[in-house]
Amino acid sequence: MTSPPEKVNILFRCPDCKSGLNAIYDYDAIQISLLGNPIIRGEFLRRHVHHWKYLSFYPIQDATKVVSMAEGGTPLLEIKRINEEIGCAYLYFKYEGANPTGSFKDRGSTVEITKANEINAKSVICASTGNMGASVAAYAAMAGLKCTILIPERIPNEKLAQIFAYGAKIIQVKTNLYHTVQRLSEQAAAKFNYYLLGDYINRTEGEKSVGFEIIDQLGWKPPDYVFCPIGTGTLIWAIWKSFIELKEVNLIEKLPKIIGVQAKGCSPVIDALARDSLKINPIENPQTVASAISCPDPITGSGAILAIQNSNGFGIAVTDEEIIKARKKLAQIGLFTEPSGAVSYAGLLKIQERIDLKNKNIVCILTGHGLKDAQTGYKIEKNYIDPDIDALKEIIFTQ
Ligand SMILES: Cc1ncc(COP(=O)(O)O)c(C=O)c1O
Repeated sequence: MTSPPEKVNILFRCPDCKSGLNAIYDYDAIQISLLGNPIIRGEFLRRHVHHWKYLSFYPIQDATKVVSMAEGGTPLLEIKRINEEIGCAYLYFKYEGANPTGSFKDRGSTVEITKANEINAKSVICASTGNMGASVAAYAAMAGLKCTILIPERIPNEKLAQIFAYGAKIIQVKTNLYHTVQRLSEQAAAKFNYYLLGDYINRTEGEKSVGFEIIDQLGWKPPDYVFCPIGTGTLIWAIWKSFIELKEVNLIEKLPKIIGVQAKGCSPVIDALARDSLKINPIENPQTVASAISCPDPITGSGAILAIQNSNGFGIAVTDEEIIKARKKLAQIGLFTEPSGAVSYAGLLKIQERIDLKNKNIVCILTGHGLKDAQTGYKIEKNYIDPDIDALKEIIFTQ
């Protein structure tokens, strides 16, 4: 459903189907203003990669109200020996842990809090599995807004500490069902006149910058495959939308295939794909180490399905063991991610033998920093020795 711009601040779900809303822009106007003149076009294409470079594609009317921590512009890393291991032409990791609060969520938060600033909101409320709460709390603190974060029962202590440190009010709701917490935040926003933040239209628009940056960093040449984790479905939908929009304004011709990855213990989108249905059947008892993507009834579930189907991609479910293995492998090439941050790579490792990756360019999105859930999957060994060179020699060469 499409909503007129003046309603964007008060309407968060489609009144009919209850899923998120979709923003549509005047793409002809974007093309004329940004790309029509060769000098402006050249200047735009050459400008360094960062989130607000793509302002024309965000629902922001007053650029003086932007609240930013220089989010985005995250590295797209290639580690050549891994290409050989996987058997593809190029494998790039989009390392979202490099954002100011350690996840891709900052891209959505900068747009949401800017919007809150534009409409002069004083208090914001948001439901989160941890990362969005930490990100919103940080941006609200920067903007001087009162912030309340609702979280489900089980989230890593590191994320709790982060939200707490930014000074937000944290309320832990006795449930493991993220959508229950999200519904409560929607009721609270309406009842207490708080501005609602979360997996809604403004966040989707902000998270598109992951997709814009990937294409920009590859010299405006789309990759063949993009592997992306799915929780609520907001990120994967946002990335697909960014590609469609770049095609709409004639910046690219080809569209990448989107591969969506979920944890087996909570995979409502992959289940729906297997049934060839757009309807999500909620998971009753979600169980996974990837707590950030444990979303049993995802608000943008049908969007995630459309992103995968319309791009001729596919979905994969990975076990907790596969997620932890991928997390360890990434850390061993210098990329420390939380379990949910490694899910895209777990998906690639799982299907690498089943599809032809020869000559293919692949991007895996690593969504969150390892310090956000530092210990899951690790048994940390401590080597204590006396301050003595012989003791050191013995231990250094035996492990
Ligand atoms: C680290 C991480 N990865 C992936 C996701 C999934 O994103 P989405 O809920 O937009 O599908 C989340 C969501 O919280 C996350 O925190």
